[in-house]
Amino acid sequence: MTLATLSDVLAPAFRDGYAVAGLVCLGWEDARAYVAAAEAEGVPVILQAGPSCRAHTPLPVLAAMFRTLAEGASVPVVAHLDHGNDVAECRAALDCGFTSVMFDGSRMPFADNVAATAEVVRMAHAAGASCEGEIGFVGYAGGEASLGTDPDEAARFAEGTGVDALAVSVGNVHLQRSAGAGLDEARLAAIGAATAVPLVIHGGSGVPAAQRTALARGTSVCKFNVGTELRQVFGESLRAAVLRDPDRFDRVAILSETHAPVAEAARRVLAALKPA
Ligand code: 13P
Repeated sequence: MTLATLSDVLAPAFRDGYAVAGLVCLGWEDARAYVAAAEAEGVPVILQAGPSCRAHTPLPVLAAMFRTLAEGASVPVVAHLDHGNDVAECRAALDCGFTSVMFDGSRMPFADNVAATAEVVRMAHAAGASCEGEIGFVGYAGGEASLGTDPDEAARFAEGTGVDALAVSVGNVHLQRSAGAGLDEARLAAIGAATAVPLVIHGGSGVPAAQRTALARGTSVCKFNVGTELRQVFGESLRAAVLRDPDRFDRVAILSETHAPVAEAARRVLAALKPA
């Protein structure tokens, strides 16, 4: 049994200068491949259920799936709710057995975000779990624009909420299909200097791999969320498996061909975040 909380895996990363991947799961096949990759690399992994995953599969099923994978794993595995939209959703996730929740109040006014996040932090800690919050706003490629995190606000947010991890906006954007120009390292350094909490980069797919490594080792960034680039590998391998044999109809046989490519791609993500 290697079920862990977010704090369990981020505290040593913060102390020793590395980062842990929060990998976006859409189902059993990718979650299982991510745990196999983490075992092969000998590193912890955060399995994340985001809004689209939850729209497809009920929360209790996802909690049981992540916990089952953790029980059989040789490395620490965190069962994390990504972008919890309200306090009730975070409560439901904790009740189902998630060991970590993100409350996303980044669209709220500052004071409301602090108050609601602090409530989720208290709830999570009472349940023996962790809580991630967001300050500033991480936008979406081709969609909502970002609002960069202000270092002073980040400090007041961390202080006022007691979050275990803090998602920040420093040039990162969700859903980028290829690596972009990179992050604003000066802003990140200012946030790091003003806070004493592990920082989280959402939209990890858009961050060049070399910069991920440098930030993992040299800054307070301890968690990179990566989804799109792994979903691309899953989609491509699934398409190839479907087209390989037009007579084949058994989905277990088809889906099994996604495992190796997704696990390989996840290994590369995990390897880049390891300590020096
Ligand atoms: P990407 O899909 O852009 O890698 O972002 C993942 C993420 O931040 C999930 O919260």
